[in-house]
Amino acid sequence: MINKVTDTIYYIGVNDHDIDLFEGQYIVPEGMAYNSYMIKDEKIAVFDTTDKKMTGQWLANLEEALAGDRPSYLVVQHMEPDHSAAIAAFLEKYPDTTVVSSSKAFKIMEQFFPDFDIPDRMEVQEGSTLDLGSHKLNFVQAPMVHWPEVIMTYESTEKVLFSADAFGKFGALDSDEDWTCEARRYYIGIVGKYGRQVQDLLAKAAKLDIEKICSLHGPVLTENLSYYIDLYDTWSSYRAETEGVCIFYTSVYGNTKEAALLLADMLKEKGVEKVAVSDLARCDWAEAVEDAFRYDRAVFATTTYCGGIFPAMRQFIQHLTERSFRKRKVAFIQNGSWAPVATKIMKSMFERSEELDFAENEVTIRSALNEESIAQIEALAEEMAAGAKADSGRMKCSVCGFVYDPEKEGKPFDKQSDSYKCPICGMGKRVFVEEAAAKAAKQAAEVAAADSDKYICSVCGYVYDEAEAGKPFEEQPDSYRCPMCGLDKSAFKKG
Ligand code: FEO
Repeated sequence: MINKVTDTIYYIGVNDHDIDLFEGQYIVPEGMAYNSYMIKDEKIAVFDTTDKKMTGQWLANLEEALAGDRPSYLVVQHMEPDHSAAIAAFLEKYPDTTVVSSSKAFKIMEQFFPDFDIPDRMEVQEGSTLDLGSHKLNFVQAPMVHWPEVIMTYESTEKVLFSADAFGKFGALDSDEDWTCEARRYYIGIVGKYGRQVQDLLAKAAKLDIEKICSLHGPVLTENLSYYIDLYDTWSSYRAETEGVCIFYTSVYGNTKEAALLLADMLKEKGVEKVAVSDLARCDWAEAVEDAFRYDRAVFATTTYCGGIFPAMRQFIQHLTERSFRKRKVAFIQNGSWAPVATKIMKSMFERSEELDFAENEVTIRSALNEESIAQIEALAEEMAAGAKADSGRMKCSVCGFVYDPEKEGKPFDKQSDSYKCPICGMGKRVFVEEAAAKAAKQAAEVAAADSDKYICSVCGYVYDEAEAGKPFEEQPDSYRCPMCGLDKSAFKKG
């Protein structure tokens, strides 16, 4: 499928309706689009390739768009194989092309194509530029959006941002569906863990005059761009998008389900307009994860099972915690016929999650609902209907401990300019974390083995092993950066 984004920018991507699971785990009922673009100028640049099984169709699209010309550059923005699998096939056909990418991407490229020699390469980094004639490419590093090697490209003549995975969605381009729902499920599922990196990217994007966003999935965005950017800001800062309560349950014989549905009815009676209920053993788990991040309150109801909790709930909570689930009010319902321990286990699974407000009311069902457990559900409904605790907005300098109080300062922290400095130690905005998060991080660090010689990047998971590095982490200079995602020392936690 070839389309023109502008007179000189071509869409040459492909739709995949045969895919069963995207990235091996996400159901995509409307298929998937692997986008690719070409800029025709004095020099021709192609942006990313495609998934392996779509190689033939993509090369045909490219050939048609080239109309007898030859490409000068292949810009590889992202090395995940849904976009990079056809690099070797492309270079076999167009061997005189220069491959343009980041140094990390070239390393990953060599890993994916160990037997293929990249004939001509151009390494780019933040601020690198490339002239095609009338078009000028400006490269922007975007580590962990969604892999560490990612670069994005801002074409400044036509004001187009080629945004790699960012602003993408599930679904082929010929499917008729709303952007928001499938973009949210895609973002939370795939990039959700990397909110801090997406915030960094949004700060860079705010300095660019963008008229079009060309993502590697989903439609080209051409109008009302602030709508999409604002949603990305909400999602990546882990703020709730919608006021409401989502209830997640597992049920073996229907009694926990009955409790979940009763709670849903009570919440609606008490005026909660949005109540979403999911049976975790049967629903699309990624939809449920999306709901958990979308709403400001969540209830987890499950059975005690094999001395633990029901597997679907255990896996679901893991999906949440590994995506940095936070800033929500959460409540628990447990069922157990002889030794109920589910609430205790669920709470412990959230132990390292930041800024969760556990409800005061808990519900314990002994096999089936009775007068006592129904009264507990009533009390929980009352508490959850009252709403989530407002975000205090207080931020703490992770270097000197100074607390920024938005009430005293007269404006929210995120409205401070980029040049804001801590009034005590002079460090920039980047070292500030939410006060509650700082408290949680301190507790987590204390829990971590005191004699551990490993420091873990809280964003990408890179492990700094003092024994391997031959140097204590504390002795690394302040300019030290995570070799994987590029974040500074403050992103590391001992553990
Ligand atoms: Fe669409 Fe991260 O690959």
